[in-house]
Amino acid sequence: MLQLLYISSVTRAASDELVGEILTTSRRNNAAAGVTGLLLYDGKRFLQALEGSETAVSTTYERIKRDTRHRGIVLLSSKIVETRSFGEWSMAAEKIAQAAGTTIPVLVDQLTARVADANTREIIRGFARVRAAA
Ligand SMILES: Cc1cc2nc3c(=O)[nH]c(=O)nc-3n(C[C@H](O)[C@H](O)[C@H](O)COP(=O)(O)O)c2cc1C
Repeated sequence: MLQLLYISSVTRAASDELVGEILTTSRRNNAAAGVTGLLLYDGKRFLQALEGSETAVSTTYERIKRDTRHRGIVLLSSKIVETRSFGEWSMAAEKIAQAAGTTIPVLVDQLTARVADANTREIIRGFARVRAAA
């Protein structure tokens, strides 16, 4: 299974509505393609994890890279994993988006509890902590 992690910046001041649209589309497509993952959004940047078959994840990522709602996409990690870290969620983001500032690190800790790779886990947790503190 392939697992990707990237960050990007929003091109416009992304509204909750815009993120909601992205999530609706993501959940529909990802459920159909067997892709699971996590999307964190802090008002300026996205951090997303995608996992699933190599074909499904590559196809999804190529489509996401062409999306003009974000830019400056930087791939942080790409690796073959044995098991899913975000298996329960076609895209776990709503929980983060609905949470008040200071609870975000706690929620992200829960969401990343099953990320086996410590490096990947710390990248995601660090993203949540930096923004929560800003
Ligand atoms: C930050 C970000 C994350 C996205 N994540 C996903 C995703 O996980 N899955 C997905 O299918 N589309 C995702 N998209 C949307 C795709 O770029 C694209 O608009 C969508 O897949 C098109 O789907 P449709 O042809 O069904 O409308 C994301 C877009 C952005 C800006």
